[in-house]
Amino acid sequence: METAERIQDRPDSKTISPKTISQGISEEIVAEALAGLLSPRKSLPPKLFYDEAGCALFGEITRLPEYYLTRTERLILETLAPALDGLVPRRAALVEYGASNEAKAELLFAACDIAAYVPIDIAADALASLSARLAGKHPALTVHPIVADFLAPIALPREIASMPRLGFFPGSTIGNLDPRAAVAFLTRARATLGEDATFLVGVDLEKSPNLLLAAYDDVAGVTAAFNRNILARLNREAGADFALAAFAHRAVWNPAEHRIEMHLESLADQIVHIAGARIPFRRGETIHTENSYKFTEPRLTALAMRAGWRVERIWTDRRKFFAIAALR
Ligand code: TRP
Repeated sequence: METAERIQDRPDSKTISPKTISQGISEEIVAEALAGLLSPRKSLPPKLFYDEAGCALFGEITRLPEYYLTRTERLILETLAPALDGLVPRRAALVEYGASNEAKAELLFAACDIAAYVPIDIAADALASLSARLAGKHPALTVHPIVADFLAPIALPREIASMPRLGFFPGSTIGNLDPRAAVAFLTRARATLGEDATFLVGVDLEKSPNLLLAAYDDVAGVTAAFNRNILARLNREAGADFALAAFAHRAVWNPAEHRIEMHLESLADQIVHIAGARIPFRRGETIHTENSYKFTEPRLTALAMRAGWRVERIWTDRRKFFAIAALR
């Protein structure tokens, strides 16, 4: 359990103490939420999704029949394992951006020679249990968890300074950033990971809107619950008074932007209070909560290039639903 102290003395990495996470949203995030709700086109910051309840719901999403992303990515990771052995140097340090559990990293531990693991995630509780599990399963592996928003500048631990780096950004999380933010993130990751690093990035591919929409609006309503949990969390932790039943989950395919949009639609004219502010809603008005951009190979290549990376290889599944790119 080295998380808390170790991170405190690293001034460059923006950190949030575990206490802040479990007992309430930081004032900074409440301010961000408020600004989003007060803007003419309402929005909420997606990082609000991932409290304990949200992480559990997202875990359920990854097992839904409609949500092909996780299982397809897993399949690709399993088949690319032999190719990775030639691409990744011995005794490498694996740096995973957004690592709420170790399931995907385990596939890389099995495929290449990883000596150290740096999981970066904003969910302190999830990181602590991940580290504890790994200590039991892989005693020879050194784990250096970093509790941080992976979009913030990250200082890698000194202990891995001399090791070759393998960056890992699975789950099509890059698709949750708009293109400008994605380029900024990739540029920063290039600086963090250093000259000779390889960066494995998982991206969801553009496909029939029906398949995409089903993945973000499942029949069992798990994604709806996940989306609404953002409001439940503001009620619990920021003293807001959202009537959960008065907001409906909406997933929309935006073809011009190549993205699925997640919204919460107000089912009535209503007023919500949060942090001393009064937020009026018209019936039919939505809060935009998340985007999930979908890629083609050329768009991914162009994005990587803008950030100074080149696509060394790209692996996909038979149906071309999902892809993993090795950037260099
Ligand atoms: N990175 C995931 C994705 O874009 C996150 C996600 C899945 C998500 N389902 C969601 C985010 C529903 C918000 C709402 O697929």
